Amino acid sequence: MSDYVIAIDQGTTSTRAIIFDRAGRIVSVGQKEHDQIMPRAGYVEHDAVQIWQNVQEVIGTALGKADTTDRNIAAIGITNQRETTVVWDRRTGVPVSNAIVWQDTRTQPALDTLAEGGGADRFKRITGLPLTSYFSASKIAWILDNVAGARERAEAGDLLFGTTDCWILWNLTGGVEGGVHVTDVTNASRTLLMDLETLNWRDDLLEVFNIPRSMMPEIRSSSEVYGEAEYSSLLRGVPVAGILGDQQAATFGQAAFNAGESKNTYGTGCFLMFQTGKEIVHSQNGLITTVGFKLGDGPAHYALEGSIAVAGSLIQWLRDQLGLIRSAAEVEQLAVSVPDNGGVYVVPAFSGLFAPYWRPDARGAIVGLTRFSNRGHIARAALEAVAFQTRDVLDAVNADVLASGGAHLTELRVDGGMVANNTLMQFQADVLGVPVVRPQVAETTALGAAYVAGLAVGFWSGLDELRANWREDRHWLPVQGAAERERQLRLWRKAVTKSMDWID
Ligand code: G3P
Repeated sequence: MSDYVIAIDQGTTSTRAIIFDRAGRIVSVGQKEHDQIMPRAGYVEHDAVQIWQNVQEVIGTALGKADTTDRNIAAIGITNQRETTVVWDRRTGVPVSNAIVWQDTRTQPALDTLAEGGGADRFKRITGLPLTSYFSASKIAWILDNVAGARERAEAGDLLFGTTDCWILWNLTGGVEGGVHVTDVTNASRTLLMDLETLNWRDDLLEVFNIPRSMMPEIRSSSEVYGEAEYSSLLRGVPVAGILGDQQAATFGQAAFNAGESKNTYGTGCFLMFQTGKEIVHSQNGLITTVGFKLGDGPAHYALEGSIAVAGSLIQWLRDQLGLIRSAAEVEQLAVSVPDNGGVYVVPAFSGLFAPYWRPDARGAIVGLTRFSNRGHIARAALEAVAFQTRDVLDAVNADVLASGGAHLTELRVDGGMVANNTLMQFQADVLGVPVVRPQVAETTALGAAYVAGLAVGFWSGLDELRANWREDRHWLPVQGAAERERQLRLWRKAVTKSMDWID
């Protein structure tokens, strides 16, 4: 019997392979960043070939560090940045263009036109999603309409679409030699093309976006054997047995399986998910409805999600575009060099504002500047922006939950890279007015993918065993007074209004 499960976590900025043992502990990690290609304002692209190369490399690194072989790996799980769109040729395996990343806003004008007939929520009842450039459908259409010859090739049945889970699975299971063209329900629920009830592609929506059905992967559960790794000799023969979009994976890795359980992940963006069980709940407060997970033949479990486009990427921006800090870790030092934000607020609406506002017309703003403002204030305001955005989303969750007879969230489980930042976590607890709790394994995204893969092959016995693996590392209690919290929130919300209606 094998001792480990390996998870491939294909994120927005980097790709990781993490090997876990039966107790859900990390055995080894391989990680590699890929290029962020930004040819013009609003465009964000990735090279899918580079991503696939990185996947193979990080698998090798993780196996090497763990000093183990494929024979000791029970299963492979995949988790991924969601929505990012790859279109490739099934005969050559070559993508027809760079992948269009979830943050890319180039398709918004086309969606605005589409929204003129029926509003931005015209497909929300079916798909759970508003018509914004965040989701995959308009990105596929853009590629077909703008890459020379793509539409003809797609109509001839030569092109395939996939989010990066699907691209990796196809390559891992043989690529042009018979790779499996499959995605899971959680990723499919981010395309604007899947019906939340039937868990199938909608022909009418494919028609609206003018996308040939032959491009679309088969939608399967999040936990089943899709195929065996072929291509990479490193993992040859190991079953690929789990796929979850990264936010759903983090929720699963936090052992938040039941209705009413939730988590917030601080990655490139920030994503709060709230499980609603087998019920499809439609938000009245700007959240989206998405599939949480589906284990094999079991029923689909749904979730409400508050998606925030910019969190960790704001810190990267301070580093790479402004040169304010040399490393992301330095932001905390800089933020505590001042006692407060000095009245400065940063609204990082780089891709418009996502939940709960859904304002594609918003753009980033720094407000409240005076001659007194310094680098420390801006760094602090950037961290605070992450916490304020989370507060806006949590308010929306609470409003939806209260409306359906449930109770307010009494604590928030957190994970992702930024939860190492203790200043941010304390600030988060203060802004929310509820405790914030960090688990021992902060790599919950990869852990969730390992869990679904391990469950499918019997490596873990069931959800109770996974729940027992969850252990608290640290928690933060709110210490700020209510009056100060309300004052800051008022100013934050005023700052948000300043970022809106910016596009000419
Ligand atoms: O929806 C986008 C999300 O899946 C990206 O996650 O962790 O790469 O910021 P992350």
